[in-house]
Amino acid sequence: MTDEPRAILMNGTALAARMLAAAAQKVRLIVERTGQIPTLATVLVGDNAASAVYVRMKRRRCEQAGMRSVRVELPHGTSTAQLVAEIVRLGEDPSVHGILVQHPVPAPIDRRAAFEAIPVAKDVDGVTSTTLGRTILGMPAFASCTPAGIMKLLAEYRVPLDGADAVVVGRSPILGRPMASMLINAHATVTLCHSRTRELPSIIARADVLIAAVGQPRYIQGDWLKPGAVVIDAGYNPGNVGDVDFESASRRASMITPVPGGVGPMTIAVLIDHTADAAAQQLNVEV
Ligand SMILES: NC(=O)c1ccc[n+]([C@@H]2O[C@H](COP(=O)([O-])OP(=O)(O)OC[C@H]3O[C@@H](n4cnc5c(N)ncnc54)[C@H](OP(=O)(O)O)[C@@H]3O)[C@@H](O)[C@H]2O)c1
Repeated sequence: MTDEPRAILMNGTALAARMLAAAAQKVRLIVERTGQIPTLATVLVGDNAASAVYVRMKRRRCEQAGMRSVRVELPHGTSTAQLVAEIVRLGEDPSVHGILVQHPVPAPIDRRAAFEAIPVAKDVDGVTSTTLGRTILGMPAFASCTPAGIMKLLAEYRVPLDGADAVVVGRSPILGRPMASMLINAHATVTLCHSRTRELPSIIARADVLIAAVGQPRYIQGDWLKPGAVVIDAGYNPGNVGDVDFESASRRASMITPVPGGVGPMTIAVLIDHTADAAAQQLNVEV
């Protein structure tokens, strides 16, 4: 161990707790004014143990905020048509205000077809192409929860984005792409990297703000970073391990998110907040 300075930890757990308390207050107002309970439907297909844990966590937070959660579990072997039919049914149910289809959905289901079956007003997880398009254009939307949570964390820690060099590693439709768009809309200069990117370390070396969304445990090394960079690790790999090598990165960065306790709790808090807002919109009440 050396006694080199360590980066400030960006505490997602604390900020998420405040967001959940604010969402619970919105829920109380909705119930008071409409007599209806905001409701999130979670759809889980197959028997992926990690997905089952995520869904349970989301349902628990939902209920802690005073909302109702409706659980839909479909067996492995469910077809795209069966899944789409279930989502359409939830979409038409006026007592359901938000729909979360837990991903990954098992092959050979057409994930895109399933996501597109969610009505935009109930797309609280930000997975439809319409929501992504609105996010890119900076229009109001229930944007994808993980990047939206990261933007809240960056704001909370007053990380300057205007004119900053930001590097996003990962281009998935739920994380890297909307993340890059949100950073562009906040006036950062953004480089979006992926598995075909050449010389990743030399690109990362330019980043004032680095967002890691790679899905490879401890992939990004501390000595790739610009000294003083702000490092957001969205990765969540088995064993509570992020996509950044925390030990080396926390000695080089000025701020860093821990795993767990950084991006993960923010993702769920945004989902709950979106569901409360979706219910308020559908029930025509201001909160
Ligand atoms: N905390 C949360 O709430 C939360 C939520 C969602 C996801 N996550 C985590 O975030 C990470 C990313 O999730 P995801 O759903 O976006 O994953 P994904 O769909 O698998 O996308 C991974 C992205 O990383 C890129 N990539 C893979 N290997 C690379 C490499 N060696 N160099 C550069 N880029 C590489 C891929 O490039 P190609 O496009 O070229 O294949 C792809 O764009 C995972 O660890 C996941 O567990 C966390």
